[in-house]
Amino acid sequence: MEHASTDPVAARPRRVLITGSAGQLGRVLAEAFASDEVIGVDLGEWDVAGPAPSWLESPELVLHAAAWTDVDGAEADPDGAERANVGGTRNVAALGAPLVYYSSDYVFSGEKREPYLESDPTGPVSVYGRTKLDGEQAAGERAWIIRSSWLFGATGHNFLRTMLRLGAERDEISVVDDQRGCPTYVTHLAEATRRIVELPFGVYHAAAAGDCSWKEFSEAIFEQAGLDCRVRAISSAELDRPAPRPSYSILRSEKPETPRLPHWREGLKECLEEIARLDS
Ligand SMILES: NC(=O)c1ccc[n+]([C@@H]2O[C@H](COP(=O)([O-])OP(=O)(O)OC[C@H]3O[C@@H](n4cnc5c(N)ncnc54)[C@H](OP(=O)(O)O)[C@@H]3O)[C@@H](O)[C@H]2O)c1
Repeated sequence: MEHASTDPVAARPRRVLITGSAGQLGRVLAEAFASDEVIGVDLGEWDVAGPAPSWLESPELVLHAAAWTDVDGAEADPDGAERANVGGTRNVAALGAPLVYYSSDYVFSGEKREPYLESDPTGPVSVYGRTKLDGEQAAGERAWIIRSSWLFGATGHNFLRTMLRLGAERDEISVVDDQRGCPTYVTHLAEATRRIVELPFGVYHAAAAGDCSWKEFSEAIFEQAGLDCRVRAISSAELDRPAPRPSYSILRSEKPETPRLPHWREGLKECLEEIARLDS
């Protein structure tokens, strides 16, 4: 007698809507969910600050990766960031399908000196962090809130790609050494998402194992990429960006069922290999 498979990969394909599908996370989510029927939309197809377009077929699962992610720009245009991150999430939740909402380590103040767990009190210090936190509420009851941090991937805007460009152009750069976090490879987060959607709705912390400062991350990037560029440590005060950032935002999960992500150094290695493949 045959038994129904419990392997999610072998299950019937679902109609999965990915918002922000042109972003660094959205792109690899489409790959991780390739055995499903994936519909990707980005700003050109649906600005989530407004209602869903009439042609959009009802999804069975939504991976909501669209967001205003310009942390400094949000300080200058808080209404714009709120429309995208809070109103946008409300509009996506209104589709009525179970929803993955990607949230951020920036919902925390950074005052703690040991890893932030799901049950820790939030306290964003920036407009971006506040809109991401309000977005968690806007996602509604049928949602997995996945908080991650310091995302990097082979495409799009991210710290790793900026460092590869600057490291090839300069002999020395200055990088902040007083913020610690978990640089997370988007492909590892996309794989973790597949497993989290098999778990009950709720908040999940899903960031890379290990932690570092931005300076330590840049040094590892140069070492792995074979770039000869010195890194000078500076403070956040010296860099003087418009948005304050938490000085400590390491995320860990207190839920035993949450998938554990590989170490950020493994993510860095895999990402550099992916970049080399895309360039060849
Ligand atoms: N990046 C990080 O370090 C980080 C850390 C923790 C959590 N997160 C969260 O993870 C998710 C994915 O981040 P990501 O790094 O992949 O971001 P990303 O690369 O900036 O991608 C976001 C995508 O959403 C699009 N978008 C922006 N506003 C939109 C709107 N109103 N309607 C529809 N699409 C819109 C963007 O288009 P344009 O590029 O044209 O604006 C972009 O293609 C976001 O929810 C983010 O808040 C990110």
